[in-house]
Amino acid sequence: MTLSPGDTSTEFSKHIPGLIRRLADTGDLPDEELCRLLEQLFCHEAEEYRDILYKTARKVSVQTFGNKVYVRGLIEFTNYCRNNCYYCGIRAGNKKASRYRLTKEEILLCCREGCALGLRTFVLQGGEDMAYSPQDIGDIVAAIKQTWPDCAVTLSIGEHSREDYLLWRQAGADRYLLRHETADNAHYGKLHPPKLSLKHRVQCLYSLKELGYQTGAGFMVGSPGQTIECLVKDLRFLKKLQPEMIGIGPFIPHRDTPFASESPGSLTQTLVLLSIVRLMHPKALLPSTTALSTIDEKGRELGILAGANVVMPNLSPDGVRKKYMLYDNKRSEGSEAAQHLDQLASRFAAIGYTIDFGRGDAPSFR
Ligand code: 5AD
Repeated sequence: MTLSPGDTSTEFSKHIPGLIRRLADTGDLPDEELCRLLEQLFCHEAEEYRDILYKTARKVSVQTFGNKVYVRGLIEFTNYCRNNCYYCGIRAGNKKASRYRLTKEEILLCCREGCALGLRTFVLQGGEDMAYSPQDIGDIVAAIKQTWPDCAVTLSIGEHSREDYLLWRQAGADRYLLRHETADNAHYGKLHPPKLSLKHRVQCLYSLKELGYQTGAGFMVGSPGQTIECLVKDLRFLKKLQPEMIGIGPFIPHRDTPFASESPGSLTQTLVLLSIVRLMHPKALLPSTTALSTIDEKGRELGILAGANVVMPNLSPDGVRKKYMLYDNKRSEGSEAAQHLDQLASRFAAIGYTIDFGRGDAPSFR
């Protein structure tokens, strides 16, 4: 479809269902059409079209995964970080953050509890904390895999050398989450200090893929300076990388960061992007994120209904949960807690979904 400069958005809007259909059928659209589609779907009045989008994405998700949601136990094992990302509450420069790190034994206790709760994937997430040597991380991974051989271990600890990624892979790590944050160079520079680069982040992601990790990328929606063009670049980048997991959540300001007074990302825009990503990646593992449930009481459910199929309840020790504050008011209670999977299950039951307690590997890794 071509558009003449005179086309109004109302005239364009009648093309939306057709574009959604083409996106569902072919898994892609040219950049220009993705851009128009996002623009239109972000409009307040586009509710009817968004419903078509969510329904289509949900159908694609159910075709691959059934009415099931995978669960992962999230262990936030350190909030020390060497970096200074402008958006993040645990940035090195935040002197108000109360810092903690868990020992190997404490991490293993979390896994033991998670295993008893029925969880079969542990996500070890933390800042880039150099107090753990590469060998320390490898030892932790190996100990988990030795004790619970049928469990998957996911690492989410930032940018490291290919050599370290290899060491951890050999120690038994199955998966790695490293959001690319934004695929636009200039935007990357607005979110991160100069010593961090999109180029290096992308190199890390390709190393992880080559080393055989089920790899997760992703981005925040509504981060300061983000434009629709940035989002189209994110979609294009994901299409090229073909990650097994894609993490998408709204940006939420943290009071002790340079972005304290920025506005949070919108629920609607996040849901639209989740659905579009689902249509472009029918087999990807897509979490309905904690950030989504932080900006909206029903966020988790809405994420699932927009095509997500993973949740990551918190399995960190009680005493540290409130300290892993990436953004203000990050939720960690009630159905956010791995200890309350029953609450989560009944919320999902109400929308026709059940929790799947399997390892939940990406389809191409089964
Ligand atoms: N708002 C939303 N998400 C955030 N993250 C970090 N800070 C924020 C924030 N203020 C996300 C980043 C990171 C992931 C672990 O948490 O995308 O990759």
